[in-house]
Amino acid sequence: MRKIIIDCDPGQDDAIALLLAFGAADRLDILGITTVAGNVPLALTEKNARKLRELAGREDVPVMAGCERPFLRKLVTAEYIHGETGLDGADLPEPRLPLDPRHGVDFIIETLLGEEPGTVTLCPTGPLTNIAMAFVRAPQIMPRVKEIVLMGGGWAEGNVTPVAEFNIYVDPHAAAVVFGSGIPITMLGLDVTHKALVGEAHLRQWRALGTPVGDAAAGLLDFYSRYDRERYGVPGAPLHDPCVIAYLLAPELFSGRMCNVTIETASELTMGQTVIDWWRVTDRPANAHVITDIDADGFFALLLSALKTL
Ligand code: RIB
Ligand code: CA
Repeated sequence: MRKIIIDCDPGQDDAIALLLAFGAADRLDILGITTVAGNVPLALTEKNARKLRELAGREDVPVMAGCERPFLRKLVTAEYIHGETGLDGADLPEPRLPLDPRHGVDFIIETLLGEEPGTVTLCPTGPLTNIAMAFVRAPQIMPRVKEIVLMGGGWAEGNVTPVAEFNIYVDPHAAAVVFGSGIPITMLGLDVTHKALVGEAHLRQWRALGTPVGDAAAGLLDFYSRYDRERYGVPGAPLHDPCVIAYLLAPELFSGRMCNVTIETASELTMGQTVIDWWRVTDRPANAHVITDIDADGFFALLLSALKTL
């Protein structure tokens, strides 16, 4: 069993990442879900996380709200992709259970102080505000983190600006704290997530499960896919965040390289760019395992098998 904390901003792709993690209950010990402002404001991301917890029948997992805005910059959200609720495409009931009263940042700190050093993996799938805030508030937790496996960044392209990916762009200063932490990082950026495109065939498979989870997952991604289909003319939408959980469960599906990743926080033109020294042309230390390739068929098979258990 691998102990993890998922820090997320649901968002349809975060939702599928959560369902994948919930469906791997025999292998992932989800200590808690912390939520952050990102795709939609915090009041919605925390409620959405609670809705998804109940959809999967995992009321055992505490959900906390974290930071409602980035360190320095004004919050940028993505309703144009995720809809006004952040989970458009599935009509999920209002959550029955309340939010855990602890702040998400406090939960991350308390959990890392309470668990054996080197046993907890942090899995951020949204802006890195909560993670960075925890490190600033309690630096003594940093050497206790086993690994950070995050969705963010990219080498060849951005999706918010020509060079910046959303999670990093929203809070580049938090990203700079995380990538400068010295903690082992695996980065699943757009280079790999754009190879995990969900298509109509996958949605049909999920609907054929005949379960509330299968129907909700298909409805969420049907809505979510329309933006990428129209914007990029691709057959499906990239399943960004589920790549984080899939990497934990089946790292053999992925490949990449240890590189230096440095975050642009000065220039407005390239703000939030993950500057990846893929060819080692600088002497900057390799601080991240940058993933660029995926066995997409294996990924979707893993996802289907997890959805079947819920
Ligand atoms: O750029 C994609 C990332 O930004 C995903 O995590 C998506 O959910 C949004 O948070
Ligand atoms: Ca996300």
